[in-house]
Amino acid sequence: MASLKSVLSLGVCLSAWIITIAAQNSLPQAQNVHWVSLDFKTILTWTTEGSDLTYTVLYSWDKTDWLESADCIQMLDTECDLTHNLQPYDRTYTADIQTEHEMPESDYPLEELSHVYSPQFNPYKESNISAANFTVEKVNKSTVIISITDPLTSIHERGKQLSIREILKSDLHYKIIYYKSGSTGKREVTSDSSKVEVSQLDPGQSYCFMVAAYIPSRPKTTQHGAWSRQRCTPGSNDTLQEWSLGAWVGVVFILITVFIITVTVTILCCKCCRQRNKTLQTTQSSAPI
Ligand SMILES: *[C@@H]1O[C@H](CO)[C@@H](O)[C@H](O)[C@H]1NC(C)=O
Ligand SMILES: *[C@@H]1O[C@H](CO)[C@@H](O)[C@H](O)[C@H]1NC(C)=O
Ligand SMILES: *[C@@H]1O[C@H](CO)[C@@H](O)[C@H](O)[C@H]1NC(C)=O
Repeated sequence: MASLKSVLSLGVCLSAWIITIAAQNSLPQAQNVHWVSLDFKTILTWTTEGSDLTYTVLYSWDKTDWLESADCIQMLDTECDLTHNLQPYDRTYTADIQTEHEMPESDYPLEELSHVYSPQFNPYKESNISAANFTVEKVNKSTVIISITDPLTSIHERGKQLSIREILKSDLHYKIIYYKSGSTGKREVTSDSSKVEVSQLDPGQSYCFMVAAYIPSRPKTTQHGAWSRQRCTPGSNDTLQEWSLGAWVGVVFILITVFIITVTVTILCCKCCRQRNKTLQTTQSSAPI
């Protein structure tokens, strides 16, 4: 009985040892796997912990049919551009990074290929959107039109480079923040168009505008694109500069008049006072004691 026990435990020890050896022999997995995506250009990146390792990237949206990415087969790079593979965009994909050894006749046993799954990624919902360029055009004293240029993606269709509008279609909105320059109160408008009329501005005031893509159909954390730099409209300049020569002459004339009046009044007053003092003194001295 005791001998059977020791044989059993020896067996357990042995298999544990074999497993450990096998694990040491298997190739290191790709580390820190993550997605970087901007304007629908989507790249899978990772880091490596070995040398002479090659990687092959597969992808799938249902985790059953795996396709190889044609540009990422047995390569030494640690990133793979999957922009053209992840279509249709509005699906949640998973990638599988397989590690191989550059030299097949190495120490590593062939059946010990190691692989690692990427986090899931949906380009349509998670690709970052860069800041959009725009112009501000004055319509009248209280209204401007903001014309936004939809950022371009790196996706081409029939020789044409597509904009984010051509992919997001009516899901693409824009947020516009604006404020009177020098004031802290901000106002915000949202529009589903790339041309936005902003009205009820104070005439003659300078306003500053910033825009960002806004996709309300996405999850909260990825709804906003990057904010653009601000653009300001010129106010009808400083009132001081706008004064005509006539106005300046008028001001100078008024100032001189006020000065002359002040001086005259002061002089007259002093004379009066002195005279009254004198009369008082004379009355006092002539009074009988
Ligand atoms: C999008 O941008 C944010 C902020 O810069 C970053 O943390 C995130 O990883 C980016 N996402 C993708 C998919 O590139
Ligand atoms: C933004 O648009 C303006 C006017 O169309 C242009 O002059 C400017 O170069 C553009 N800026 C960028 C960063 O594309
Ligand atoms: C300015 O233009 C807008 C749109 O064209 C119009 O609705 C508004 O009444 C105009 N305002 C003035 C003060 O002319």
